[in-house]
Amino acid sequence: FDVSWDAAAAEKGGWSSFMAKEVAEQPEAVANTIRGRIQDGQVVIPELDGLDELFTGINRVIITACGTASYAALVGKYAIEQWARVAVDVELAHEFRYRDPVIGADTLVVSISQSGETMDTLMAVKYARERGARTLSVCNTQGATIPRESDAVVYTHAGPEVAVASTKAFSAQITALLLLGLHMGRVRGTVADASTDVAELLALPEKVAAVLESEQEHVTQLAGWMADTRSVLFLGRHVGYPIALEGALKLKEISYIHAEGFAAGELKHGPIALIEPGQPVFVLVPSPRHSALVHSKVVSNIQEIRARGARVIVVAEEGDAAVLPFADEVIHIPLAGPMFEPLLAVVPLQIFAMALATAKGLDVDQPRNLAKSVTVE
Ligand code: AGP
Repeated sequence: FDVSWDAAAAEKGGWSSFMAKEVAEQPEAVANTIRGRIQDGQVVIPELDGLDELFTGINRVIITACGTASYAALVGKYAIEQWARVAVDVELAHEFRYRDPVIGADTLVVSISQSGETMDTLMAVKYARERGARTLSVCNTQGATIPRESDAVVYTHAGPEVAVASTKAFSAQITALLLLGLHMGRVRGTVADASTDVAELLALPEKVAAVLESEQEHVTQLAGWMADTRSVLFLGRHVGYPIALEGALKLKEISYIHAEGFAAGELKHGPIALIEPGQPVFVLVPSPRHSALVHSKVVSNIQEIRARGARVIVVAEEGDAAVLPFADEVIHIPLAGPMFEPLLAVVPLQIFAMALATAKGLDVDQPRNLAKSVTVE
């Protein structure tokens, strides 16, 4: 009689992989990151109490990060500019300190890191401090080096992330940046009434859970049919653009398929030359309720690629009938405000990458050549 104990299997809690477990934990990661940060219908981040000067004494924000965290940073740029009315640049950490960036006491450098140990990001934070900038870290690991080197920290509460491909930490990073944008907007006096956005935030965990529930099977099936695909493109606009980049990175990382994310408006400036019959293209369609103009631009991008034979997989909000005639597949997400859509749209792309890698018989948790935390420059 042999009783074998597989510690890793036990840690996965019945899931086939850590990544599958972590994708499923996203509603909780988002809820835990919001918890304790809303008071009387306003976003108030207790860790930033007494630090208003970090936000009022600046005229510029730089968000620095690597990989997936840098895509969360791009969503953060849109949110902070919209709500706090301050200019935001996103800088890859490894590019930032190898030139002579214009920074000083009027600059807030926000770093984003799941591990808090990424060497490139750490060096960028140290560099910013030496140049007199104020520093704030968004981090998932309590007491890690990057938050210790920063003036302030806003922790994401995604819980430990084991799979190399980041999923729930990314959702928690976007959530933290939305909170930071609304906190900064309140402190700077640029957000008078946050009630709609706070309601959107509070509704997020349930909506993320709804996407997991409704699209898991459909997207897994789609990935199964596409297991032999050699290249996949992703297009997005506005906050859908960083999600296109993230969808492509997930696919590269764990399924080793060539994938590229583009801003949909760039299509005619070059990438449309890649479109040939059968080329799969995911298109993240922003809600027509937010901007009929932006929506119509994306729909015409879809028509352009469809006319050249692309296989179009659309991620669109429920009820968006305009995309139906041009899509080979439609993945639905619930209705959400403009800044909140990325948290819903990313979920099917994570499931797609995971299912495709699984269909190819690959180890989704430990992709080749990659480490969870990159502690060398
Ligand atoms: C994402 O799936 C990656 N494995 C990678 O891009 C990661 O996000 C990047 O290395 C940054 O890591 P950090 O958040 O721990 O700093």
